[in-house]
Amino acid sequence: MSSTKSPQREVFASRGAFIFAAIGSAVGLGNIWRFPYVAYENGGGAFLIPYLIALLTAGIPLLFFTYALGHRTRAAAPLAYRSFSRAAEPIGWFKTGIAFIIGIYYAAIIGWAGCFMFFSLKLSWGDDAESFFFGEYLHLGDPGVSFEFVPGVLIPVILVWIVTVGILILGVQNGIARFSKLFIPLLVVVFLILVIRSLFLPGAGAGLNALFTPNFEALTDPGVWIAAYGQIFFSLSICFGIMITYASYLKKKTNLTGAGLVVGFSNSAFEILAGIGVFAALGFMAAAQGTAVGDVASGGIGLAFVAFPTLISQMPGGAFFGFAFFACLVFAGLTSLISIVQVPIQALREKFGWSNKLSVFIVGGLMAVISVLLMTTITGLYVLDTMDAWANNLGIVGAAVLALVMVGWVLRKLPVLRDHLNAVSSFKVNKIWLACVGVITPVLLIYMLIQQIITFATEGYEDYPPGLLGVFGWGMIGLLAVVSIVLTLVKWPQSSIDATKIAIADSVAEENKAAEQNKGV
Ligand code: ALA
Repeated sequence: MSSTKSPQREVFASRGAFIFAAIGSAVGLGNIWRFPYVAYENGGGAFLIPYLIALLTAGIPLLFFTYALGHRTRAAAPLAYRSFSRAAEPIGWFKTGIAFIIGIYYAAIIGWAGCFMFFSLKLSWGDDAESFFFGEYLHLGDPGVSFEFVPGVLIPVILVWIVTVGILILGVQNGIARFSKLFIPLLVVVFLILVIRSLFLPGAGAGLNALFTPNFEALTDPGVWIAAYGQIFFSLSICFGIMITYASYLKKKTNLTGAGLVVGFSNSAFEILAGIGVFAALGFMAAAQGTAVGDVASGGIGLAFVAFPTLISQMPGGAFFGFAFFACLVFAGLTSLISIVQVPIQALREKFGWSNKLSVFIVGGLMAVISVLLMTTITGLYVLDTMDAWANNLGIVGAAVLALVMVGWVLRKLPVLRDHLNAVSSFKVNKIWLACVGVITPVLLIYMLIQQIITFATEGYEDYPPGLLGVFGWGMIGLLAVVSIVLTLVKWPQSSIDATKIAIADSVAEENKAAEQNKGV
């Protein structure tokens, strides 16, 4: 009745390959670099409550939502949304744009981590890791834009892009899946060794107390909830097109919800493990310096690149520990970066009918050039920090709101996605899922988004000059919105439209078959 294959679409060879790739995408800098400081800054142990609520009400349900969308249409985000309505296509482009932005700065952090792997061996930062990182390494100038490049950052960032493009050229199965299958088990083993080592350091208990002692007052602060939802979205790689793209490479009959549960819980387990390891180590450092853990735990970038080097210098066997820690950041980061860059590669490939290689060269090349121009100068850190704050807190959350309101409230297509999930999966979704993606999550996210816009508009960010925030924060989001509309106006090649029509026809056949079987039961 229906044709079997969309022409020329790459597929993951097995569900296992997909799961490794999806975990590779999820487990990244967000888990090792971001989660521990976000948790610490937002109430410590009490953060785990909004975090778990965010995982269960938004993370996993939205993971299912995006899997269903990508798998049913076998298309990247823009075409997948367009299959419901042309009015929804800009949402797909906006998500693609967020991935484009995140990729630009994500590569820079991997580049730094690559350098710090080698710095660890010689403890190059000496006694003052903070001035080493900001001064000697980044040559940080005043906030703004500069074209003064820092060779020590420029070269590793170029290398990161060469490796990323090299993997992506190999394709979905031979590049993305193989690389993830190789590095994710290795990462888990090395990271486990590091965490166990940290737990045996003197003072580790105080670090864990600092992380897990709940500050319940924090729960009344909307900012803590925004941080929890933002962390879940970033960490699970949802709402910036990755999971739609990856699910589009799955075979026709794949247990989507089963895979989603494995990916969702593995990612959070790794994240909490990272929190334990990082804080046990900080507890040791505080004990060694005779201070409180709060005094050694600094925010984001500082936590990995200032607090950790300091700690590495103080612990026995620190050089090896440091090398392994930064190697984990590099490999966790690379398996995520390839997934981030694949989003615009696939979306533009479908829009312009390009081959994989051409799309990898154009998109990867463009991202690499922008990344190098913006991130490897003496002001790169400020640009990075601003883009990260706006992309995560406004971009990802905003994209989630737009998607859920459009698909759930305006087009009323959630039952279509539910039926698709249930037709192919073992774990069935029901009214609870509909309530999560149709009501609870969008309502919460709309509230959070408004709060965040008010905060950025009234308080700015980190005392950065308004010009910087105007260009790389507000301006960047505005530009993404305009580009999303412009790309929607560009005509699709017939081959892409046909491929998606065939995929949807296949999916409908599957859904009808499942409905028949249910009737028979
Ligand atoms: N999910 C990726 C991370 O956590 C983007 O870093």
